[in-house]
Amino acid sequence: MEDFEKLGVFYLGRVYDLSANKAKDDLLLYDSKDLTTHGVCVGMTGSGKTGLCISIIEEAAIDGVPSILIDPKGDLANLMLTFPDLKGENFLPWINLDDARQKGLSAEDYANKQAETWKSGLASWGEDGARIQRLKDAAEVLIYTPGSNSGMPVSILKSFAKPEAAIMDDSELLRERISTTVSSLLGLVGIEADPIQSREHILLSTIIDVAWRAGRDLDLAALIQQVQTPPVTKIGVLDLESFYSSKDRFTLVMALNNLLASPGFNAWLQGVPLDIGQILYTPSGKPRIAIFSIAHLSDPERMFFVSLLMNQILGWMRGQSGTTSLRALVYMDEIFGFLPPTANPPSKMPMLTLLKQARAFGVGMLLATQNPVDLDYKALSNAGTWFIGRLQTERDKARLLDGLDSAAAGGGKFDRKQVEGILSSLGSRVFLMNNTHEDAPEIFQTRWAMSYLRGPLTRDQIKTLMDPIKAAAPVPSGSSPSSPTASLAAGVGPTAAAGQPPALAPDISQFFIPLRGGLPSGSKLIYAPGIVGAAKINFSNSKSKIETVKNVVYAVPVTDDAIPVVWENASEVDVPANDLEKTPAKDAIFAALPSAASISKNYSGWEKDFDTWLYGSQRIDLLQSPSLKQVSNPGEDERDFRIRLQQFAREQRDEMAEDLRKKYVPKIATLQERLRKAEQAVEKQTEQAKKAKINTAISIGSTILGAFTGRRVVSQASTAMRGVTRAMDESKDVSRAGETVDAIQKQLTDLQAEFESETAALSERIDPLSETFETLTIKPKKADISIQLVSLVWTPYWQDAQGKQTPAW
Ligand SMILES: Nc1ncnc2c1ncn2[C@@H]1O[C@H](COP(=O)(O)OP(=O)(O)OP(=O)(O)O)[C@@H](O)[C@H]1O
Ligand SMILES: [Mg+2]
Repeated sequence: MEDFEKLGVFYLGRVYDLSANKAKDDLLLYDSKDLTTHGVCVGMTGSGKTGLCISIIEEAAIDGVPSILIDPKGDLANLMLTFPDLKGENFLPWINLDDARQKGLSAEDYANKQAETWKSGLASWGEDGARIQRLKDAAEVLIYTPGSNSGMPVSILKSFAKPEAAIMDDSELLRERISTTVSSLLGLVGIEADPIQSREHILLSTIIDVAWRAGRDLDLAALIQQVQTPPVTKIGVLDLESFYSSKDRFTLVMALNNLLASPGFNAWLQGVPLDIGQILYTPSGKPRIAIFSIAHLSDPERMFFVSLLMNQILGWMRGQSGTTSLRALVYMDEIFGFLPPTANPPSKMPMLTLLKQARAFGVGMLLATQNPVDLDYKALSNAGTWFIGRLQTERDKARLLDGLDSAAAGGGKFDRKQVEGILSSLGSRVFLMNNTHEDAPEIFQTRWAMSYLRGPLTRDQIKTLMDPIKAAAPVPSGSSPSSPTASLAAGVGPTAAAGQPPALAPDISQFFIPLRGGLPSGSKLIYAPGIVGAAKINFSNSKSKIETVKNVVYAVPVTDDAIPVVWENASEVDVPANDLEKTPAKDAIFAALPSAASISKNYSGWEKDFDTWLYGSQRIDLLQSPSLKQVSNPGEDERDFRIRLQQFAREQRDEMAEDLRKKYVPKIATLQERLRKAEQAVEKQTEQAKKAKINTAISIGSTILGAFTGRRVVSQASTAMRGVTRAMDESKDVSRAGETVDAIQKQLTDLQAEFESETAALSERIDPLSETFETLTIKPKKADISIQLVSLVWTPYWQDAQGKQTPAW
């Protein structure tokens, strides 16, 4: 393993010498953290944008960073074409047969040639099959195909569901979410609507707003129904009918209904929900490269989907903790039309918000386009890195330079003259990188991509790739609601008496567990008696700084047996104690109340029993990572804990890498300065030594250490240089200069060795994804349990005509 793989840097290629027209030996290592301020990749067709961005995604995956890719052309699916064996037979099913024919080769011969090209291409960039294997092991690649079954289908049903709390609590984000959802939906039915002017937009936004604020989810069917009978009678100051008559509304109803009824639309409703947390990681917590292929969609469908996806990413992101390290990448190839300078398509708003806010959450955006004219540079003034490739026309060049100029006005660094000169002479796969985190722009050639860049894949090819994966991992179903144990209904039978709950002594209070859902037809509602216990339990563990309060509510049947209440039979009730109702639902039948329940002094005994039972039974089991000294949060499952640990480990690693940089940059700078002086001295002596100078320069430049501390050395070296010159008096200077080049070279080699052993220590850390956790069990002390309620409770059941009972709560 190359040392740079431990350091949170992405290997993007080699520094390029424009005058010599070839790549130098110096690696171009990009600090992964820099991507949290987003990257933009511009260049004409064939300039190598997709190749570069695919390499960035590969690097991110190797570093355990998941990504979401939006693929309008079909060539990002190439990320599934990774063949560690690099054999012709691996390539054969994926080669472009036309290319083979044109070259007059049989498919087999052409595949062998392609494999050879890839093998030697990778080798010339210091890569091999082992690195491809590492990529494959690091992340799972999946192709999602919204509106189609060829890849993993995606259900958009949830998109009209009430958003996460992080969005609901932020009125601006909520407004944006509603507006984007409505605009993209209207776009889908062919209505281009202005959010402020259009009746359709205003009405749909109102309907969604009312539903979500009331805590209700919507789906398309409900939306259509509510356009017919809206939940409001007024819009602004106008009454609904004069604002938008029911006759006119019917046109909208028809349009939406036609959409819903169209044969293709069903495909949009089946598949995995657009749940970003589930999409970014596998069920075991391994990162994913999630490719959303939208090549098969129409323009309005693409706009609809991209807007939805961006919204979902935004919602997920806002629920994450802040971080300074890269957490996830969102890459869109060909953003033409999605982030234009003047128009306002539905995709633009969520993209703008992401560009502004994602940094704090470690979510990096990577956007590529061949068209520098169609870009909102103001929005992109936040972009920290520009990868600029060859541009076709002077107009494109001028527009890009203007754009970068205006973006830089916001505080970025940009030297127009310098960049202009460079842009004219870039070849393919050669990019100018303007990174605000670095001192100067850098020209580099992109490394060979590990994925086989065979060009766009067809739907059938995507199906071939995805079918085995779909078969092996069926679409995950949502967790089924835990069904309450039927034992509570034990007392309910044909003896159930109609009417009101029995009259009780005034010091016995009774509650009713709220009903869930409506009455199934032909069923009767029956209340069964039980005892409810509610308690607040404090779990604390000073060593791991856990301090958490759990509110529990349990219900247990009360019977006529010798021991009427046995808490061991209790089941947890998913209703907070305060939500228990004081009056029963209408038209219910009450089961007979065991006599023990009407004796008030029994309740204090049951309370004591409840307390004792809680003390013996309550515990929380937390997971503990021995290597990272972290403990899972109460309620956090293993997958989420492992995902959180990966980010935690990455943050720590980035911090340590930064420390390494701080430590080594001045050391290299000093040695380089001394080397320069020594070389000057030697240079005077012999002509032969000149050769020695070149050799040394190369051997230093190409070390990983040099590349890792990288361009940062340039500025720090000059500062160090000034310091060195000032500090050294003339005589010392002379003696330094007398040092042999060999001696300094030796010191540099030692420094390199020291650096290598330090980075080795970095990689010895245990992988949070596979580490075996310990269990930390926390039990409450007696004093940590406070009983809030022990009382009679009535539990509702539906009883059908056959007498079968199902819980109604
Ligand atoms: N990093 C790379 N490794 C190997 N081959 C590459 C790499 N980058 C580009 N290529 C080759 O060059 C071709 C064109 O590059 P690429 O598709 O990246 O261009 P592009 O800038 O994305 O063009 P377009 O704007 O048309 O999408 C690729 O099909 C591939 O054959
Ligand atoms: Mg491309």
